[in-house]
Amino acid sequence: MSQPKRYTITAALPYTNGPIHIGHLAGVYVPADIYARYQRLQGNDVAFICGSDEHGVPITIKAKKEGVTPQDIVDKYHAIIKTSFEDFGISFDNYSRTSAPIHHETAQEFFKTLYDKGEFIEEVTEQLYDAEANQFLADRFVIGTCPKCGFEEAYGDQCEKCGTSHNATDLINPKSAITGNTPTLKETKHWFLPLDKHEAFLKEWILKGHKKDWKPNVYGQVKSWIDDGLRPRAVTRDLDWGIPVPVEGGEGKVLYVWFDAPIGYISATKEWAQREGKDWQSYWKNEDTKLVHFIGKDNIVFHCIIFPSMLKAEGSYILPDNVPANEFLNLEGNKLSTSKNWAVWLPEYLEDFPDKQDVLRYALTANAPETKDNDFTWKDFQARNNNELVAIFGNFINRVVVLTNKYYNGMVPEASEFTSVDEETLATLKAYPAVISSSIERYRFREASQELMNLARLGNKYLADEEPWKVIKEDEARTKTIMYVALQIASALATLSEPFLPFTSKKLKHILCHSELDSESSWNDISTKEELLSAGHHIGKAELLFSKIEDTAIQTQLDKLEASKKANEAANKSVEPQKDEINFEDFTKLDMRVGTIIEAEKMPKTKKLLVLKVDTGIDIRTVVSGIAESYKPEDVIGKKVTVLVNLAPRKLRGVESQGMILMTETAEGKLVFVNPDAKEEAANGLQIS
Ligand code: 2FM
Ligand code: ZN
Repeated sequence: MSQPKRYTITAALPYTNGPIHIGHLAGVYVPADIYARYQRLQGNDVAFICGSDEHGVPITIKAKKEGVTPQDIVDKYHAIIKTSFEDFGISFDNYSRTSAPIHHETAQEFFKTLYDKGEFIEEVTEQLYDAEANQFLADRFVIGTCPKCGFEEAYGDQCEKCGTSHNATDLINPKSAITGNTPTLKETKHWFLPLDKHEAFLKEWILKGHKKDWKPNVYGQVKSWIDDGLRPRAVTRDLDWGIPVPVEGGEGKVLYVWFDAPIGYISATKEWAQREGKDWQSYWKNEDTKLVHFIGKDNIVFHCIIFPSMLKAEGSYILPDNVPANEFLNLEGNKLSTSKNWAVWLPEYLEDFPDKQDVLRYALTANAPETKDNDFTWKDFQARNNNELVAIFGNFINRVVVLTNKYYNGMVPEASEFTSVDEETLATLKAYPAVISSSIERYRFREASQELMNLARLGNKYLADEEPWKVIKEDEARTKTIMYVALQIASALATLSEPFLPFTSKKLKHILCHSELDSESSWNDISTKEELLSAGHHIGKAELLFSKIEDTAIQTQLDKLEASKKANEAANKSVEPQKDEINFEDFTKLDMRVGTIIEAEKMPKTKKLLVLKVDTGIDIRTVVSGIAESYKPEDVIGKKVTVLVNLAPRKLRGVESQGMILMTETAEGKLVFVNPDAKEEAANGLQIS
């Protein structure tokens, strides 16, 4: 085996203003976990680091909304997030939090070093200020039009549509998120990181350097950023939630959350190293260490431009070797949204599918948004489970284990002569570790997961072609050879599945009675060792690795989403504000009569209008009514309706309308007549149609 390498693998610190959902998992945590587990299996020295990102404006906004303190919010979600990651099998070496004292110290020290080295520009600038709320408006407290793409709901620090990062004062038509007022400009002092000063280094490092092997989406975004020209970025904020600025004049100000959060990777490593008796510096300051940041695409600029500039300015740190950012995952055709509750939340998933962590890991990996945004559907999730995990992987293992128990009481049989099919199968098997490694090392986890499934397919096909259940009747020696070969494949699957399906791998190793020691070093042994399970080794009894997911379970999930959709629609339906008051005299001017519709036809070339003949009791008159989208002409003939008969006539499309039919709208948004006889038609306010 080659010399073990040291890896510092980071996964974006999630904001603690909500639980983790499948978008986070597919974009960051599942690929990062596959990579970390894989590197450990290679015998490498891995620090897999994450933690809660507990500062920033969204947390203070949420706290305000809920009438609690920001600390209450972060305590609640830190606990939820940490537990759900553990239950889902994300194998962080340390999951820390940015409110930890070690982080405050580390971030302040980092700031102080840059300050002392003269790496900041100190400037009094005009910042957006909300006079009514009596505070400066940092980042997410400002919403306005993106200067780059025109998106109207861009935040002060970043546009979620085009990913551009900017200063709040760059927004067109800015509005305060606290009061909705247009903010004013007020002077305040801040410290800026002069990104323009680091432009030459960034060009050299990323554009001319070896970073062409970065994913095209990452490289492309970074290049366009650099090509657009870099400007100084404020790294402090006027806010009362965050890490206090540790220098003179910094009173009442905190570090910008995007300054402190990536330093969280360093402080979480320190915390872990202290606990484990290791030297944290070797994971951050040794050129032999490979630093890899797993993030979502909205974090690219912070990890590829701002954080590297900070590390470079500090001077003693290594820079990331790669930043494999993913694109976004959608859900059932719509963008994931926390506020609209359009998501599959990890804690809820774990409650609904308590033993199916690997199913979600697999579905998210097989359909990972690696090169473009992708869609998660519950139908695909079900199909990945039923058609691949159950029908291919599970079925193969089950057959091997059941037959080995049935024919040989669980003992691996002795192989005799290999046929050319056996030789080929074993040779193909030996090639798999390298094939899967190559995909993982190029951050192609989707491809890697499919190669793993191909290995299970190889096993399935081998058994189906060789038919040991038939051969056993006439050739015992041949059957033994077939089962021996199949057991080698099963054993390889136990090891190679570990990064992708850790729960399954553990179960399978247990079934095959692999010793833990064996499995630690066996990734590459699959290619080099003569045999993985030797004749005479005893395996255990069959246990189902996966079980079928029924339509009802999927329907329950779809129903949940449908309920979210309905709730959103109801919430979005704006209620018309009440009109100006009228007095009783005004009311008595209205002459309303009960009439009967005696004729109805569609107004030609319109969508909404019906031309009605109404018997008002006074006369028969024509009324043009905008109800054609709710009623067909034939359905309204004979209906009793309330008619405002003394409304001044007016022409609609050339037809004189001599009155107005009174309508109202039901809670479902359907227009119904204000009908004196009908009980079922709601009357929650008159609407004149
Ligand atoms: O986008 C986010 O969810 C951020 N909390 C990610 C921070 S990553 C890092 F720099 F810590
Ligand atoms: Zn934009």
